[in-house]
This record gives sequence, C-alpha cells and structure tokens, in this order.
Amino acid sequence: MKVTVIGTGYVGLPTALVFADHGNEVLCVDKDQSKVERLNRGEVPIYEPGVEALLRRQLDDGLFRVVSRIEEGMAHGEVVFIAVGTPQGDDGDPDMTAVWEVAQDIARTITHYTIIVNKSTVPVGTGDKVEKILLDTGVSPDLFDIVSNPEFLREGSALNDAQRPDRIVVGANRREAAHRLMELYAPLEAPVIITDRRSSELIKYASNCFLATKISFINAISRLCEECGADVAAVARGMGSDPRIGDKFLQAGLGWGGSCFPKDVAALIKISEDLGYDFGILKTAVEVNETQTTHFIDRLKQRLDGVRGKTIGLLGLAFKPNTDDIRDAKSLEIIEQLKAEGAFIRAYDPAATEHVRAIHPDIDYCTNPIHVGRAADAVILVTEWPEFKSMDLTELGRIMKRRLIFDGRRVFAPHQIERAGFEYVTVGAAAPLEPAPQG
Ligand SMILES: NC(=O)c1ccc[n+]([C@@H]2O[C@H](COP(=O)([O-])OP(=O)(O)OC[C@H]3O[C@@H](n4cnc5c(N)ncnc54)[C@H](O)[C@@H]3O)[C@@H](O)[C@H]2O)c1
Repeated sequence: MKVTVIGTGYVGLPTALVFADHGNEVLCVDKDQSKVERLNRGEVPIYEPGVEALLRRQLDDGLFRVVSRIEEGMAHGEVVFIAVGTPQGDDGDPDMTAVWEVAQDIARTITHYTIIVNKSTVPVGTGDKVEKILLDTGVSPDLFDIVSNPEFLREGSALNDAQRPDRIVVGANRREAAHRLMELYAPLEAPVIITDRRSSELIKYASNCFLATKISFINAISRLCEECGADVAAVARGMGSDPRIGDKFLQAGLGWGGSCFPKDVAALIKISEDLGYDFGILKTAVEVNETQTTHFIDRLKQRLDGVRGKTIGLLGLAFKPNTDDIRDAKSLEIIEQLKAEGAFIRAYDPAATEHVRAIHPDIDYCTNPIHVGRAADAVILVTEWPEFKSMDLTELGRIMKRRLIFDGRRVFAPHQIERAGFEYVTVGAAAPLEPAPQG
C-alpha cells in the first residue's frame, strides 16, 4: 500500500518504518528541513533503540523516503497519517496548531481519494473539525474519509511496540475506511477494536489518564509506607498479584513525567471541564504527582541539614530509560529545586545530557556515572537506566564525600547498598531500608 506519514517524531518515524518493513511504500513529510535531510542520510535525530538500523535498511530497499513538501506526500499516499505534536497549551488545552496546519495543507493539496488517519493524541471531536476544514475549503466529501487511530507505543521501546501492538484502535464513521486501514495493519496480527471516531479519540486519553492515576495511587501508598514502616515494594507485590489489579504501573517512584502523561492528564481535565464534568480523581492524581518529587527532595534536605553549598550527583536525566526525551522530566524539577536551594549539581545520562545542557548550561555534566559521585554529599538516582543497576557502588562510594544514596526509582538492592557501605533512602520505605527476607 502507498502510505504517507506526516510528522517524523517519536511516533511518526517508528510507525512509518514498521509500515515500510511490511513492504508498503512509505513517504514521510516533515516541515523540519534539517530533520528531512538527516533522515534521508540514515541519521536518526532522536535516541530510540533499533530505529537507525531499520531506517538504513528501508532507505537501502527504497521503500522509505522523507520530504518536506506536503504536495508530494498527498500525491503519494492512499492512506495519510497525521502524527504531529500536540503539546500542552494554555489552561491545559492541547496546542492543536500543528494538527490544524496539517489539515489545511491536506485540504489544499488533496488530489485523489485518501483515507486521512489521525494518530496524534487529540481532543474528542478533532476528526469532525478536520472534516469541516476540508469541506469548508471546498473538498468533495467523496474524496476522503477521516479515521481516528490513536497510538499507544512507548518511547524507549517504540519500534517493538509499533511492530507488536497489544491492540489497534480504529475509529471511523464509515465501515469501508476502517476495513482499508485494517488491511494495512493485518500483517501485525494484533487485536483490532473498531469503534466510532469520538470513542476512539477518548480511548487514548482515558488509557493514559488511567495509567497515570495508577502510578499516583501507588505513590500515595508509598507516602503511607514511609510513615508507618511498611515497604511499598512488598505492598505493590501483594496488590499486583491480584489479576484484577495487575503488577504493571505499580512501581512507586518520583512520579510520572514525559511527553504524554502530564499533557494528556491536563487535557482530559480541561476537556471534562468544558463538558461540565469535574474530573476530581484526575486532579488528585496530578496533586500527588506534583508533591512526590518535592517530598523526596525535602527528605534529602532533611537528611543533609539543607543542601546549600552541598554537591549532589544525579544519575539519569531522561524522563525514562532508553530515550533522550526530557519533556516534563522529573530531573528538570529536581535540578530547579536544588539550584534554587544553592546546591552544586553533577549529572550523568547516557542519552539526554545535551538536551538538559541546553536548559541548564551551569551544571557539571559527567561522561561516566561513577563521576557524579566526585566529592558529592549525596547521589540521587533519577532515571532507572539499566546500566545504573549494575554500576560499581564501591567505586562510587570511594569518591563521594558522604556515602548517601537517594534512590528515586527503587533500583538498588539492599544487599548491594550494604556491601558498599551506603546510607540508603528510597521512595516508600522508612530509611534505612532493611534487607528483604529471603525465600
Ligand atoms: N511520544 C510518545 O511516546 C507518544 C506516544 C503515543 C502518542 N503520542 C502522540 O503522538 C503525537 C506525536 O508525538 P511525538 O512525540 O511523535 O511528537 P514529536 O514532537 O516528536 O514529533 C512531531 C513531528 O511533527 C513535525 N511537524 C510539526 N508540524 C508539522 C507540519 N505542519 N507538517 C509536517 N510536519 C510537522 C515536527 O517537525 C516533528 O518532527 C502527539 O499527539 C503525541 O501526544 C506520542
């Protein structure tokens, strides 16, 4: 099938490459000219495991190309995906500028019957509005269908998720359009949920908001654990083994960040408000999330008797492992709080350093995780990159001023910490954490 994907970001690029991998002829459109040039040279501007190798293979096979002119994209595709950003705008509303821009571009350049598929996360009713833009521009209703097809891939495992989705949601007002899209997805052999367009648009927000609320719930439990001497990992294990609850998204930590949860939760709160419903659970989930990091830093300040003039090492800056994305990353919140309190910061991340350096050039960035410990009064584990789990803590401790670890993601095992002689403070356990009983 001839497929066009508009927007080659964390979603558009892996999605397009997977379609090409299944033998479709894929043309991507991106308005960022430098991105277009880099991608056509086989260079991936984002950090996403496996994407560069697949890109190079598809470029060699001639099934994948990127252009900047929408006219070329519209002339090519039978199915045209919109995968542009919808960041948080004012008052929690998503900023829909890019989607409206693309809709107008499509209306201006459509030449043959096209299925226009919206993959961006958008408020309910966006499909209707895109349709109206086309009709108002004078495009015949016979020339297009608008379908909603929200994306559930996760950064850090985007390619795998795009290749093996746990479900594909297709929201269409006409059955024929939905079936054509299902043909494109058929090789993935994933369960398909066909629904009306509005339900499909809401499924995406409802899913992300549910997951964010689940994390906030366990983080609220973690606060109780710290007060009453229980261990949140044990509580989560006990809860998660109930199949009605499940153990996913039940890890206490610094809270949720990233490019999706914060903006999607804010959007659903605002969408609900506009519809006259006060989505109180979500507001509380946000409140728990916002206080989680501050509370953790307060514990650090207490332990160190203030952080003014102290050196704090940060392990991890990306909002989660295996990505360079720092949008709404917890590291930024921590850096701002520590800087405001007069601490010196040393930081290491395998992929996201340059993005953070652009915002905070005054931090001491390290090229090795051990080096964040140099003369440090404490080290905070912010992002659970796998390499931190196996790092040599004895070596880290040797160069620290005080052997104190604040583990924001519960990565280190108590025996590791004990062997290296650290004081250990983590989320959801009264410090110091006792070794877990064996067996
Ligand atoms: N990042 C994720 O993990 C994820 C997961 C699921 C859904 N989503 C949703 O998917 C959408 C895209 O997210 P993303 O993270 O890939 O965004 P992104 O910012 O990484 O990529 C967007 C791309 O669109 C391009 N673009 C913007 N306006 C354009 C225009 N008018 N014409 C052509 N190209 C244009 C940009 O240059 C950029 O390359 C969002 O709605 C997001 O909420 C994201």
